[in-house]
Amino acid sequence: MNEIGNFGDIGFFDREKEKEEILSILKFKPQLINFIYGPINSGKTTLITNLIENLPDNYVVFYINLRERTFPSFMEFLNILFYVKPEKGIFKKIMNKLRSYSPDVISDMGHLGKAFGFPIPEETLKKIFSKENPNDAFVYILEIIRNVKKEGRTPVLIIDELQKIGDIKINGHLIYEVFNFFIRLTKELHICHVFALSSDSLFIEKIYNEAILQGRSNYLLVDDFDEETAKNFLEKYGISKEEQEIVWNNFGGKPGYLSDIVNTKFRGKNINKEIQKTLKISKGQIEEIIYALKDENEEMFNGCIDVFEKFKNSDNFDYLNVTKYIRFLVEKNIIFVNSAEKNIKAQSRINLVAIREILKELK
Ligand SMILES: Nc1ncnc2c1ncn2[C@@H]1O[C@H](COP(=O)(O)OP(=O)(O)OP(=O)(O)O)[C@@H](O)[C@H]1O
Ligand SMILES: [Mg+2]
Repeated sequence: MNEIGNFGDIGFFDREKEKEEILSILKFKPQLINFIYGPINSGKTTLITNLIENLPDNYVVFYINLRERTFPSFMEFLNILFYVKPEKGIFKKIMNKLRSYSPDVISDMGHLGKAFGFPIPEETLKKIFSKENPNDAFVYILEIIRNVKKEGRTPVLIIDELQKIGDIKINGHLIYEVFNFFIRLTKELHICHVFALSSDSLFIEKIYNEAILQGRSNYLLVDDFDEETAKNFLEKYGISKEEQEIVWNNFGGKPGYLSDIVNTKFRGKNINKEIQKTLKISKGQIEEIIYALKDENEEMFNGCIDVFEKFKNSDNFDYLNVTKYIRFLVEKNIIFVNSAEKNIKAQSRINLVAIREILKELK
């Protein structure tokens, strides 16, 4: 037990600044596509989920998480965008409208709460499936959004792990169809807020340099906690000042790791030992990657070590362009590229510590 309540019960912590920023975006009419990015496990999904739970009822959120799904096809993608509802009531009316394009006024989306995915009648879904035309799906979604809007409520579309559809092709790349649809919802119609989350920094880098998104997108960084916030978090769960220092020096402010530390404490285990264990595992993983490279591709190995050298005296550095060495290290989840700030750092403090130890051993 801890003084907060139940054993192992860690509540949502801080993120006041980020929440405020998102809430201020929600107050104005939709203008830009908002990309929420940040290193692995920095708390992007947790932040957005917490925000959804606390939004007033006049917001209707469509939250779609593409995590842990593989998308061999467009069908699979549709399958997750929608959830099937019997074709009756409001959905029947929408369908009739789509069939005839009659100017029916539809005014009952009242039962849509904090929805997950877009409700759709099975027949309609089958129809969209049969043609493999993303526009049919988007026309349908737009109609749902229009109906939410008509009721005076504010629609918000959130897609988590957007990079998952990066490789799907249907007459070209699906992602471009999706971007065009997002631009229509925001910049053109100002009808729906759009947030897309991703921890794949190479995907964000690509988007950031994408011509069709220039001037149409906004980037929000959800980073690991800073030192003060991380220590306050640990303090709240009774971690001593001395332990806080050790945790910060090794784990930095990654919320996932900090939660693990608190759980370690709850279980009555030795924090220092746990840190050493985690550090050893992380270092081992990086060593495995780097030394395999040394055997297979000496040139690549040297290039990666040059990147590592930049971390010798600093925990981040500015870059000009993403070299193949940087790309390799990002793909292996060792470093993180912040495209909006043109800056690179380790994916986590623990990786930084491991990188520095590896550099010492190479001398
Ligand atoms: N604000 C917070 N307060 C308390 N714990 C948090 C907070 N944010 C994140 N965590 C903890 O960190 C873990 C990882 O967070 P989360 O999954 O939201 O990160 P993410 O950035 O979405 O990760 P990924 O890069 O894998 O998508 C959570 O399971 C939770 O335990
Ligand atoms: Mg996430």
